[in-house]
Amino acid sequence: DLPARVRIHEVGARDGLQNEKSTVPTEVKAEFVRRLADAGLTTIEATSFVHPKWVPQLADAEELFPQVRELKGVELPVLVPNGRGLDRALSLGATRVAVFASATESFAKANLNRTVDESLAVFAPVVTRARDEGAHVRGYVSMCFGDPWEGAVPLHQVVRVCRALLDMGCDELSLGDTIGVATPGHVLELLSALNEQGVPTNVIGVHFHDTYGQALANTYAALEHGVTTVDASAGGLGGCPYAKSATGNLATEDLVWMLQGLGIETGVDLGRLVATSVWMAEQLGRPSPSRTVRALSHK
Ligand code: HMG
Ligand code: MG
Repeated sequence: DLPARVRIHEVGARDGLQNEKSTVPTEVKAEFVRRLADAGLTTIEATSFVHPKWVPQLADAEELFPQVRELKGVELPVLVPNGRGLDRALSLGATRVAVFASATESFAKANLNRTVDESLAVFAPVVTRARDEGAHVRGYVSMCFGDPWEGAVPLHQVVRVCRALLDMGCDELSLGDTIGVATPGHVLELLSALNEQGVPTNVIGVHFHDTYGQALANTYAALEHGVTTVDASAGGLGGCPYAKSATGNLATEDLVWMLQGLGIETGVDLGRLVATSVWMAEQLGRPSPSRTVRALSHK
């Protein structure tokens, strides 16, 4: 059975903009977040409190976050890689944070400069402290399906990291197909393996990149399995600078088009969202890769 409602976790302002060659002005980012909220998105990942040298595109987190944090009816999660990142986020009033782990050693090293276990050891006190401060904590797991250095990723590796994040107190998980290689059967296998190891579907979100055009099919499979939180990025922006062959996320417009057709509620106004992505594409100087944006903005 398909769910009646899906919560879209919008990642365009974070996953999208972290991968842009040029740095988008802070004012434009703030306007992007406001327009996403106007379009009806209620969970908008705003930025990352990571090392500014590692992700210069988001080095303005301190300037940006105060410009959007008063938005009504919107949750604004931010990424924190360690205690320093959590300090920065909490001091600005963030109430939702996300740590980001990897199912593979190669990506843990490339993205966090740590082994998988070292990074989990960094996250544990971060999660505890965030929850003590009343924050909601998401735990991302990258490279859940395939890794550019290691190839196919065994299910048990993913399950182990998911369990560790839940055991340290994460409220929800997001299963990342960082390089977009997943296919629907693989998605169902992973969800079943997680359920068998005691990870309930209601704490699982899915995060598909669309490199091979499989993101919507993968999402549909996850919905049929009972998943109700889906990550997407307006206009299909996105990718990870530390994973070669990572392209844009599932486009929020493509997702909303499919969900509308299925009669699944999202609260999103598709016309406003498309207008936002068209505007953002003008700021970035190239058209949106989203098929739905292109179809609906064609004069
Ligand atoms: P490191 O170089 O090992 O850092 O980087 P360190 O812990 O050794 O600290 C070195 C210096 O950095 C220290 O300063 C720290 O204070 C400072 P010093 O004492 O030398 O003056 N520092 C910081 N400064 C500001 N903010 C911080 C911070 N942390 C340390 N938070 C680190 C380790 C984790 C910091 C680095 O690797 C990093 O920032 N990585 C982030 C990479 C990233 O953001 N990747 C993209 C997001 S993940 C993603 O896109 C995947 C996802 O979408 C899901 C999917 O698709 O799979 C989520
Ligand atoms: Mg991503």
